[in-house]
Amino acid sequence: MTDPVLSIRNLTRRFGGLTAVNGVSWDVYPGEVVALLGDNGAGKSTLIKCVSGVHQPDEGEIYFRGKRSVFARPIDARREGIETIYQDLALANNLDVPANIFLGREAKRSYFGGLIKTLDEKTMLREAAAGLEALDIQFPSLTQPIESLSGGQRQAVAIARAVYWQARLMIMDEPTNNLGVPEQQKVLELIRKLRDQGVPVILITHTLPDVFAVSDRLMVMHRGRKVTEKRTAETNAQELVQYMVGALDDTASAAA
Ligand SMILES: Nc1ncnc2c1ncn2[C@@H]1O[C@H](COP(=O)(O)OP(=O)(O)OP(=O)(O)O)[C@@H](O)[C@H]1O
Ligand SMILES: [Mg+2]
Repeated sequence: MTDPVLSIRNLTRRFGGLTAVNGVSWDVYPGEVVALLGDNGAGKSTLIKCVSGVHQPDEGEIYFRGKRSVFARPIDARREGIETIYQDLALANNLDVPANIFLGREAKRSYFGGLIKTLDEKTMLREAAAGLEALDIQFPSLTQPIESLSGGQRQAVAIARAVYWQARLMIMDEPTNNLGVPEQQKVLELIRKLRDQGVPVILITHTLPDVFAVSDRLMVMHRGRKVTEKRTAETNAQELVQYMVGALDDTASAAA
């Protein structure tokens, strides 16, 4: 059997008296799209923020590519190849597309044996254009600020960044929220493309048709706990809703 790319063991994260994530263990394998489901406040974003270095777990461990990982900051997780598109999309609005793709990892040109370094904007523009072309995304102009792009185009920039930096795990928190239907389809296509390139994708979404359209497996959280894990083909929307509202709980029936 293949080894998981990501292995979460007994992870707990509290905020004061509230246990947002409660003893969750979960594995994600190479080349699969897994959906992470649950009602508002179930703990989905908190769980993935522990994986991407935004939060630190209070208990439990995270293993990434077989190695125990402690990410103090998001950049530590990104350096290991974990790219995350957050619910509150983390792009710099005043910068253009190439600047966003290279954000924090800008291409530099050295002069005089490294004494003078300047940003290599030509290289960044060329690489950004190639990256987006490979994903088959059209942009009116790459040099306009991000704030003038549509939601779908912004998602595409974040995805292009993940592809360019050869993400080993892509995490997307509600990526089709606030998008028009054609743009939603584009994001789903991009998710399939990532999977076809062997990059596992964790997709957090409330949109059940998206779950059935792209995911291979899924996990449902309820009040901080994992209540089920299934192959997508082995369940249906009606059953998933039951898990999401807490009417079904595999762990409860196992304990009873
Ligand atoms: N930074 C924080 N400080 C305090 N409480 C928090 C913080 N982040 C999340 N919580 C709480 O933790 C619980 C889980 O929140 P989380 O954002 O993980 O839920 P979610 O499943 O992502 O929900 P949604 O579907 O609405 O995005 C909620 O009760 C929330 O209020
Ligand atoms: Mg959330």
